[in-house]
Amino acid sequence: MKELEEKILEEGIVIGPNILKVDSFLNQQIDSELILKMGKEFAQYFKDKNIDKVLTVESSGIAPALATALELGVKCVFARKQQSLTTGENVYHSSVYSFTKQVTNELIVSKNFLKEDENVLMIDDFLANGQAAKGMVALIRQAGANPVGLGIVIEKSFSDGREIIKDMGIDLYSLARIAKLEDGEITFVKED
Ligand code: G4P
Repeated sequence: MKELEEKILEEGIVIGPNILKVDSFLNQQIDSELILKMGKEFAQYFKDKNIDKVLTVESSGIAPALATALELGVKCVFARKQQSLTTGENVYHSSVYSFTKQVTNELIVSKNFLKEDENVLMIDDFLANGQAAKGMVALIRQAGANPVGLGIVIEKSFSDGREIIKDMGIDLYSLARIAKLEDGEITFVKED
């Protein structure tokens, strides 16, 4: 997505060889117009998949997931990383290890919000090693629902997430694919 790549070049800050700071439009302040365009783009790509629900992980996945769900006319569910006061015991959960942050998070979603046979589209802000996506797939499978696709805002293509997702047979669509982050420079994957 050209406009997203331009935004990343304008406002993204490379922090070391692996981390891109994009909190001026995605991770803290949210560029609402750009997010709505992302939702349109994901909805267009996945429109033939009969999506019943969009699933993401709190917190930064929620904005693009909501924009996509709005466009598809379906509900948006986010997995929590901590039990809330009201979540109760009736939940699916999976464990996710983040190589980037070196922490393990529990993903928790109420059984009321993922149902058998639903076609679920997963959306997230970053794809690195695919662990958050694997955690979402585990939640969807526990519910007997179908993980039909994964939409990613920024894919770090130098990590192995894409391969992991493809090996699971899941249709992956990333709006921006970063080939490398080197000496403060951002290089995108050249699509043919
Ligand atoms: P993986 O799920 O693909 O294996 O990725 P990883 O564990 O490496 O990422 C875990 C968290 O780190 C996610 O946020 C993800 O959005 C974030 N992250 C990964 N790489 C980058 C990066 O280059 N830049 C930024 N800004 N974030 C990155 P999270 O723990 O879910 O937190 P939240 O921001 O959604 O609350």
